[in-house]
Amino acid sequence: MGFKIAVAGATGNVGREMLSILAERGFPADEVVALASSRSVGKEVSFGDKTLKVKNLENYDFSDTDICLMSAGGSISQKWSPKIGAQGCVVIDNSSAWRYDSEVPLIVPEVNPDAIEGFTKRNIIANPNCSTAQLVVALKPLHDAATIKRVVVSTYQSVSGAGKDGMDELFNQTRAVFVADPIETKKFTKRIAFNVIPHIDVFMEDGYTKEEWKVLAETKKMLDPKIKVTCTAVRVPVFIGHGEAVNLEFEKEITAEEAREILREAPGCLVVDKHEDGGYVTPVECAGEDVTYISRIREDATVENGLAMWVVSDNLRKGAALNAVQIAELLVERNLLKSRATA
Ligand SMILES: NC(=O)c1ccc[n+]([C@@H]2O[C@H](COP(=O)([O-])OP(=O)(O)OC[C@H]3O[C@@H](n4cnc5c(N)ncnc54)[C@H](OP(=O)(O)O)[C@@H]3O)[C@@H](O)[C@H]2O)c1
Repeated sequence: MGFKIAVAGATGNVGREMLSILAERGFPADEVVALASSRSVGKEVSFGDKTLKVKNLENYDFSDTDICLMSAGGSISQKWSPKIGAQGCVVIDNSSAWRYDSEVPLIVPEVNPDAIEGFTKRNIIANPNCSTAQLVVALKPLHDAATIKRVVVSTYQSVSGAGKDGMDELFNQTRAVFVADPIETKKFTKRIAFNVIPHIDVFMEDGYTKEEWKVLAETKKMLDPKIKVTCTAVRVPVFIGHGEAVNLEFEKEITAEEAREILREAPGCLVVDKHEDGGYVTPVECAGEDVTYISRIREDATVENGLAMWVVSDNLRKGAALNAVQIAELLVERNLLKSRATA
């Protein structure tokens, strides 16, 4: 007997990707339910070669559902995840609502799978921010080998990270530039077409943005609280795929060649690092792919034991939907979940 899975936020960028990844990977589900707001009731979404009719999250009964993959935003999760968890259904949440709660595990299966055991306190498991997910996949094996002291990361984040409205805004503004229409700015604070914006999420007191703080807090929670992290998060006019320029300082000596060898063997990583034109991966090539690509690995002679590299991944997959499905798979593999239908 398989599991009953609900996807809340099924009409969104991440929710649609969750449905296709569940189907692609053959997750052992007997039933998959698509949920969204009352606006979407009756709309159709694809699940493999099937079509699901969207139901309303607000009046859905979770008492026979095993897992809810939640991607409906922070305030919705804040309100609904505890209620769903209390009904015995495990919530795997994509928003930032629960990531920093000490009673909620924050999981990237390649990095800290053992922390998943703590999910029973609230029946909620958090998925990290898209930029952090791909970063820690690349950092974990290097940290194990030579102990990272400090990370300096600049992100180049695609508009799909801001939901379907973000993608529409890039499309509409790009079209408007070509036909000389007025440019409308709604989702982003400045024009995004043919521009870059050094601002994602709200400003904090110290001048960093919340997005930058998330990378710091989540890397510490999942990898090691001793690692120092500083981040500059930038929105770029790319539809799918986040790039990251990463600069690392280690305790122990590590050469670029050693790092390349370690990352070649590491789960979830794929090294493409030829010192020639096009011998690296860009966001356009990573869209629709599951792995985190690492390119441009080189020694940084300006610090002791320093390395620099370029990390790219599909933010809707490893940064969100794929990681959530991998967490669900981990629950099943570790026998932490019994199908409620069987019970
Ligand atoms: N995009 C990324 O790269 C990424 C990465 C990591 C985490 N996340 C997080 O994942 C979540 C979803 O992101 P997204 O990019 O998929 O956003 P999105 O494309 O804007 O989709 C939002 C989804 O939430 C649903 N929703 C909104 N209000 C609702 C309500 N009151 N009740 C039930 N459902 C409601 C929407 O349904 P309707 O269509 O009915 O409005 C839609 O299905 C966010 O918390 C985001 O921070 C996103």
